[in-house]
Amino acid sequence: MPFTANRQFKKNPRMFVAAKDMHYTTSDGRQVLDGTAGLWCCNAGHARPRIVEAIARQAAELDYAPAFQMGHPKAFELANRIVDIAPDGLNHVLFTNSGSESVETALKVALAYHRVKGEGARSRLIGRERAYHGVNFGGISVGGIVTNRKMFGTLLGGVDHMPHTHNLAKNAFSKGLPEYGVELADELERIVTLHDASTIAAVIVEPVAGSTGVLIPPAGYLQRLRDITKKHGILLIFDEVITGFGRLGTPFGADYFGVTPDIMVTAKGLTNGVIPMGAVLVSSEIHDAFMGGPEHVIEFFHGYTYSGNPIASAAGLATLETYKEEGLLTRGAEMAPYFEEALHSLKGLPHVIDVRNIGLVGAIELQPIAGQPTKRAFSAFLKAFEAGVLIRTTGDIIALSPPLIVEKSHIDHIVGTLADILKTLE
Ligand SMILES: Cc1ncc(COP(=O)(O)O)c(C=O)c1O
Repeated sequence: MPFTANRQFKKNPRMFVAAKDMHYTTSDGRQVLDGTAGLWCCNAGHARPRIVEAIARQAAELDYAPAFQMGHPKAFELANRIVDIAPDGLNHVLFTNSGSESVETALKVALAYHRVKGEGARSRLIGRERAYHGVNFGGISVGGIVTNRKMFGTLLGGVDHMPHTHNLAKNAFSKGLPEYGVELADELERIVTLHDASTIAAVIVEPVAGSTGVLIPPAGYLQRLRDITKKHGILLIFDEVITGFGRLGTPFGADYFGVTPDIMVTAKGLTNGVIPMGAVLVSSEIHDAFMGGPEHVIEFFHGYTYSGNPIASAAGLATLETYKEEGLLTRGAEMAPYFEEALHSLKGLPHVIDVRNIGLVGAIELQPIAGQPTKRAFSAFLKAFEAGVLIRTTGDIIALSPPLIVEKSHIDHIVGTLADILKTLE
C-alpha cells in the first residue's frame, strides 16, 4: 500500500466501503466524518450526483479516444473552463493523470521552453526544503522531504533548494500568514549568485506546502519570489495540487496571494478526486514559443495515453459545474474565520506546540515522543478514526482539510473529537 505502515495495517485494516457528502462508511458500518477531503481532493464532498451521472453518461457515449494526434470535444471544453477560472495570463492547458505527472510535465515544459528560446543553458531547477511535489524523479529531486529522497540514488542533477519557511520559535500559533520570514525569499538571490541566472530554468514552490505538514508562507514571501524570478528571467512554477480549486477560499492560491506564476500545476480537486486527472497551465508566451517549425512536426514530445481521457474530462466538467453552482471555490473564505477560531481553541492542550491555519487548511503540531518521532501523531490518527473522524498526519503534525461543503457543526465535531483525543495521548 502506498505511504502506509503495511504490517500495522494488515493486522488491523481500516476499510471504507461507501461515501456520501461529508462522511465515509467503514466496512463495519460506522460513519466517519471526512476531515481531510479524502487526500485533499474531494473538495465538493463525496458521491456528488452531477459528477456520478457525468461519468456514467460519458462511459456509455465515448469511453476513450487516442490522446495522440486525435482529440475529443470535452477535453477542449474542460481546458477552456479551467482557463476561465484561472488567474489572468494562464491560458493554455496540458492534461495529465496525477499531481506527480503534472509536476514532471511542468518541469519539462520549463526546460524545453528555454531551449526553444535559444537559452538551453538554463537547465537548473530550484525547489525548496520540505517541499512535496509527488513521487516521480523530477518531483522528488526538487522536493525536499528527506524520507522520500534518500533511498533513490542521486536523483536529477543540477537541482538546488531554498530553505523552508517553518519557524516555530518566531511564528508558533500564527493565525493566517506568519509575520516572520519574508527575507527567506532572498535565499533565491544567493542561489542565483552562486549558479548565475543564465543556468537556471525554473523555481517551483507550493504556495502553501501541504503534505509536509501545512507550512504557510510568511507575508510577502511569494511576491518576493515572483520579483526575483522575473528579474532574472527564471520561470516561477506554483504547485497548486492542494491549494487549487478553492482550498484557500479563492479559486487558486495564486488568487489568494495576488501572485501569478508562469506555470501552474494542478490535480486532485480538478475532478473532485473521483477520476485521476491533473492539468498544467502555462502562459501564452510559453505556449507560443513552441509553435514554430513545420506544421506537421510535433511541437512538444511529451504526453500520456490517458491525457485528457474522456471520462476524466467529463468528471472535470461536472466538478467545475458543481463548484460553480454551490459557490465552493470561494466558500472557504466564509468558513475560514470559524475554522480558525475552532482550531486555535486547541492551544494549551497537552503536546500542542503549534496551531496554524489558512483558508480551509489547518495543522496542529505535536511535540514528538522523545526518540519516537511520528508515533504520537499516528496514535492520534488511529484514535480519531476509532472515534469517527478522518484526519491526516505527517511526522507529528495533524493536518485538516475538510471538503469545502463543511458546516460549522462538522468543524465543531472534528475539533471536539481532537480535543478529547489530545487529552488521552501518551
Ligand atoms: C503539492 C503536491 N504536488 C504533487 C502531489 C502529487 O500528487 P499525486 O499523488 O496525485 O501524484 C501532491 C500530493 O499530495 C501534492 O500535495
